[in-house]
Amino acid sequence: MFYANRCAGCHGNTGAGDGPMARMLNPQPRDLANHIWQEMTDDASLIKIIHEGGGAVGRSLSMPASPDLKDNPKLTAEVIQLIRSFKRRGGS
Ligand code: HEC
Repeated sequence: MFYANRCAGCHGNTGAGDGPMARMLNPQPRDLANHIWQEMTDDASLIKIIHEGGGAVGRSLSMPASPDLKDNPKLTAEVIQLIRSFKRRGGS
């Protein structure tokens, strides 16, 4: 699956920010299950950082852009839906 291949290495399979590459990053990716963050963050800003990368929104350059998703609204929507589903895990 797209997320497993391209995102989980840093963000972890459940979005907890515990992928094998995460410990080498500074700042580290946050826990995407965190309900406060989930409620603060709208889909448009998720789409922007995923399409354009952290650098485009003043965040860490370690968060890579996925420009190929710009031409693929269906896959973009699936990734957003997956990130939203992490909320159910609860987080901290
Ligand atoms: C090389 C590691 C790496 C990969 C691969 C990666 N990310 Fe990230 N991502 C990060 C880091 C580090 C941050 C935190 C940036 C910051 O806080 O400045 C981040 C931030 C984010 C955020 C914003 C969260 C917040 O704090 O507001 C989202 C959403 C996100 N990533 C989704 C994805 C998705 C979806 C993919 C796969 C298409 C992906 N990332 C791939 C490292 C990565």
